[in-house]
Amino acid sequence: RVEAKIVLLPGDGIGPEIVAVAEKCLGAVADQFGHQFHLQSALIGGIAIDQTGTALPDETLEVCKAADAVLLGAVGGPKWDDPTASVRPEQGLLKIRKEMGLYANLRPIRTYESLLDASPLKNEIVRGTDILFFRELTGGIYFGNSGQREENGEELVFNEMAYRPSEIERIVRLAGEAARKRREKVTSVDKANVLEVSRLWRRVAASVMKEEFSDVEYDVVLVDAMAMHLLSRPRDFDVVVTGNLFGDILTDEASMLTGSLGLLPSASIGSDGPGLYEPIHGSAPDIAGKGIANPLATLLAVAMLLRHSLALETEATAIENAVDGVLEAGHRTADLARGGPSIGTQEMGQLVIDALSR
Ligand code: NAD
Ligand code: IPM
Ligand code: MN
Repeated sequence: RVEAKIVLLPGDGIGPEIVAVAEKCLGAVADQFGHQFHLQSALIGGIAIDQTGTALPDETLEVCKAADAVLLGAVGGPKWDDPTASVRPEQGLLKIRKEMGLYANLRPIRTYESLLDASPLKNEIVRGTDILFFRELTGGIYFGNSGQREENGEELVFNEMAYRPSEIERIVRLAGEAARKRREKVTSVDKANVLEVSRLWRRVAASVMKEEFSDVEYDVVLVDAMAMHLLSRPRDFDVVVTGNLFGDILTDEASMLTGSLGLLPSASIGSDGPGLYEPIHGSAPDIAGKGIANPLATLLAVAMLLRHSLALETEATAIENAVDGVLEAGHRTADLARGGPSIGTQEMGQLVIDALSR
C-alpha cells in the first residue's frame, strides 16, 4: 500500500487530452492495487503564460518539488510561437528540468511485434529493436550562453554548447549501470571529429566506462552516422548515451522504428527528489482538440513513473502488458492506423484501463 503525491502538468495542445487519460489510469491503478494517489494539477507552458505571464509559475515549481512524482503532457503551440516573443512555453519545460536537477532523460525505444507494419521501415530491420537512450537534459547547447551582437553591420546570434566533466560523468555512469541490467553494451554518440565539447565528452565517457564498467562493452559513434545506423541496424544498439541536442533529435527519429512518436515515453531523473515523466512528443497542434491523439506514450510514461519514482514494479508492468494486449488485439489510433480504421484518445485509454483488471 503506497501513498503518493503526484502533480499533473497538462500543458498545451493535446497535453490536457492525454493527461486526462493518464489521470484515469492512475485512478484505476490506485483502486485495483489499493494505493492512495493524491493528484494535483498545476500550470506550465503556454496556458501558464496566458494566466500568469510566465511559463513556469513559482507555485508550480514548488508543488512539483514537494511531490513524489510529476507527469507532464506537452507545452507549446502556434499561439506562442512568435519568434520575437519574450516568453515562450518551452522555457517553462527547460526551467523545471533544470530547477529539479533532472539531468538524465531515459527514452526507451522498443518495437512491438504487432506494430511492425506501422513503421515505414521494413519489418526485418525494426523487429526486435530494444534501445534505451540516456539523453543528457540539463546541459549542452540548451543551457549554454546565448546572445547577440552586431558585427560588420550585420546581426550575429549565438548559442554556446558547453559541458563540464562532472555533467558527462554522471550520465555515463547511469548509462553504464542500466547496461548491466540489459545487454551490457553502451554506445556514446558525439561529434568529436569537429566539436571540442564532443572531444571532452568522448574522453570523459571513455574513462568512466574503462574505470567503472570494464565489464560492459563500449563503443563510440559520430552523431551523423548514428542517424543512419538507427535506420539500418537498430537492433545492434542497447544503451545509447548522448548530449542534450543530439538525444532530442535521435529519439524523434528512432520513434519511427516503433511506428509513431505517440508511443514513446520518457523519464527525467536526477540524483534525488521527484522524477518528471512525459511523452517525448510535443503538443501536436495539428491534431489538438480533435480527440484523436495517441495516449499510449503518456500511459507508458505513467508506467515509468510507477516503476522509477514509486517502486511499483507490478503496477508498471501491468500497464505495459495492458498496452501490449490492446495493440495485439488490433486497436489503433489514427497515427498508427495507416489509413485503416482507428479509435480516439479516450477509447484507446479506456481499452488499456479495462485490460488492467484482466
Ligand atoms: P510534435 O511532437 O508536437 O508533433 C510532431 C508530429 O507528430 C505531428 O504531426 C503530431 O500530430 C504528431 N504527434 C505527436 N504526438 C502525437 C500523439 N500522441 N498522437 C498522434 N500524433 C502525434 O512536434 P512539433 O509539431 O514539432 O511541435 C509542436 C509544439 O510542441 C512546439 O511548440 C514544440 O515546441 C512543442 N514540443 C513540446 C514538447 C514537450 O512538451 N515535451 C516536446 C516536443 C515539442
Ligand atoms: C522534448 C522537446 C523539448 C526539448 C522542447 C519542447 C523544449 O522537444 O522534450 O523532446 O527539446 O527538450
Ligand atoms: Mn524533442
